[in-house]
This record gives sequence, C-alpha cells and structure tokens, in this order.
Amino acid sequence: MKIGKLNLDRPIALAPMESVTDLSFRLICKQLGADIVYSEFVSSEGLIRKSDKALRKMQFLEEERPIGIQIYGGIESSMITAAKISQELSPDFIDINAGCWVKNVVKQNAGAALLKDILLMEKLISGVVLSVQLPVTVKTRLGWDTDNIKIVEVAKMLETIGVAALTVHCRTRVQAHKGDVDYSWIPKIKEKVKIPIIVNGGITTPEIAARVFESTGCDGIMIGQGAINNPFIFRETKYYMQNGELPQPISLNEKIEVMKKHLKLSVIHKGEKRGVIEFRKHYSGYLHSFPNAARIRSELMKFTELEPILDNLDKLLHSDEAEISIKL
Ligand SMILES: Cc1cc2nc3c(=O)[nH]c(=O)nc-3n(C[C@H](O)[C@H](O)[C@H](O)COP(=O)(O)O)c2cc1C
Repeated sequence: MKIGKLNLDRPIALAPMESVTDLSFRLICKQLGADIVYSEFVSSEGLIRKSDKALRKMQFLEEERPIGIQIYGGIESSMITAAKISQELSPDFIDINAGCWVKNVVKQNAGAALLKDILLMEKLISGVVLSVQLPVTVKTRLGWDTDNIKIVEVAKMLETIGVAALTVHCRTRVQAHKGDVDYSWIPKIKEKVKIPIIVNGGITTPEIAARVFESTGCDGIMIGQGAINNPFIFRETKYYMQNGELPQPISLNEKIEVMKKHLKLSVIHKGEKRGVIEFRKHYSGYLHSFPNAARIRSELMKFTELEPILDNLDKLLHSDEAEISIKL
C-alpha cells in the first residue's frame, strides 16, 4: 500500500496511544517489527500555545520512520496551524484523529465528535489536506453508535478530499476501547474506495491478525492494546504470516532483556523519576506470563530509581522463574 511516497507491503502498525506510545515504546515496537508508528495524539490548541506537553509528544528519532504525527481538534484554523507546525518536523505523514471517544475531546468537537458532524469533518480535514504538502491520513471509527454507522460514506468523502489512507477502528464511539469489533464493514469500504484501509480493533494475537488480513482484504492492520500486553506481537505475527505456524514462545529471559532496554530508553528520554514512574504501565505486559507476576510487579512498583529495578530484573534473569518458557 502507498501513503504518499511510502510503499509498504501489508504493514502492521502500532496504534497511537496517549501516555503509552511515547518515543521509548515506539522504538521497542519498531525493533520488534512494527512497520508504522504514530505519536500520541497532540492537541492542536496545545500546539498553538506551544505547550511543553504537546511539543514533547511530537519528538521522534529518524530510526522510527515511517512515523505519523497525530493531531486532534475541532477548529479548522487551529488544525491547519497544528498541521503546519507538525510538518516542520518532517514526519512521513500527518494523521488526524477522528475517533477519540473521551468526553473532554468530544466536547471540543474533536475526535469522534466529527462522526456526528460529517460536514465539519469534511471541512476541517480538507482544510488540512490543502494546507500541507505531507500526506494526510485519518483514523476514525465505524460510527457514533450501532444505529449510526457512517463509515462507508465517510471513507468515500475522505478519498474525494485527498486523504491518503484511512484507519478504521472497528468499534463505535459508544464502545470506547472495549467490546466486540465488527470487521464486516471493511470489505464494503474496500468496494467503494481505492485509498489504503488499515484495520484496527481487537487484534491481540497473530492468528487474529492473519484472519483480519484474509477476511477483510485490508491493506494494513494496526495493533493497540495487544501491543501493550505483548510488544512481541509484531514479530510473532510476521513469523506466523510467513510460516503458517506460531514461532517458539518468547523466553522469559528475552522478555526481561527487552523490558530493561525499554525502561532505560524511558529514563534517557524523560529523566529518571518520570521515566520510571511512567514506565509502570508496562510491567504487566512484560511480566504477566511469569510465575508470581503479581508479586514481582508490586515489588518493582516500589521504586522510583532505575538501578534497584535493573538489579531486581537481573536477579530474575538468573533465577529459575526466567528459565521456564511460556505459551503465547
Ligand atoms: C491508553 C489508550 C490511549 C489511546 N490513545 C489514542 C490516541 O492518542 N489516538 C488515537 O487515535 N487512538 C488512541 N487510542 C485508541 C487506539 O489507538 C485504538 O484505536 C484502540 O485501542 C483499539 O485498538 P485495539 O483494540 O488494538 O486496542 C488509545 C487507546 C488506549 C487504550
């Protein structure tokens, strides 16, 4: 599939996730096989105010490419300014969030609110497309709720105004991040538009990933919570799709080594205390298959400094607990 000059063969993307897909996690997922990564969503209003948070979220490294900076907002002029500021950093593309369910975001006519006002969505996104040279992609949902599934008309409209690719989170706004996904809309979208369609929602195993590619005819897939739970899912999925069988289970030792690397990256990019504290959300993902995972996690949660955590992980590395292989 193509996004501007990018040519990607059935890519597996890491979903943009606020407070999760910071630079350190993106680098780890990239090294484990993610083909596209995105920034956390950046508020257009925050960007215009030059808020530290917004500017920090936009930083990325060359080795992360291809990367999209994702922006959100409900005011066309602010979105255009935010897109221009993003363009100065030369990401590979700019992604517009038209799917966030969170009340605070919807209240600003942003995120999933755009699904309630397709005319605003069209005006706002077309304003951005016309204002930047970079390709503009969109991430949205099936619709606001099951009685208002608008995704086919939305896809047609987005193609017409020049959007380069569309990611569809196959849930409604009402469902937030949980509940059943409905992939059956994807072939209907594919029938009507030529732009690449990336499927998102509920992809938590290599088998589901392969099934989504086969059953929907999509051009790419995107993994969110499945990557928090298992950052190795990108590598495992590629192996499964190439070989038709699952790879050897990831050893606990490798999990610890990757976790240490991830934690160190977090500290390098955020400073020690913040890097350690913000890393805490990842303990479960790396440790859940360990015997005594809950105990290990609660011990690690006590620390705000790097060294004692690394010491404890090293002890774990050389203990029997890490020798036991786990099932995927
Ligand atoms: C903690 C968290 C933060 C998220 N932040 C964003 C975001 O910044 N931008 C966005 O487009 N979607 C965001 N999402 C939605 C995900 O990108 C994705 O669409 C959703 O989790 C469904 O995919 P999954 O079932 O693979 O997790 C977030 C989801 C989670 C769980």
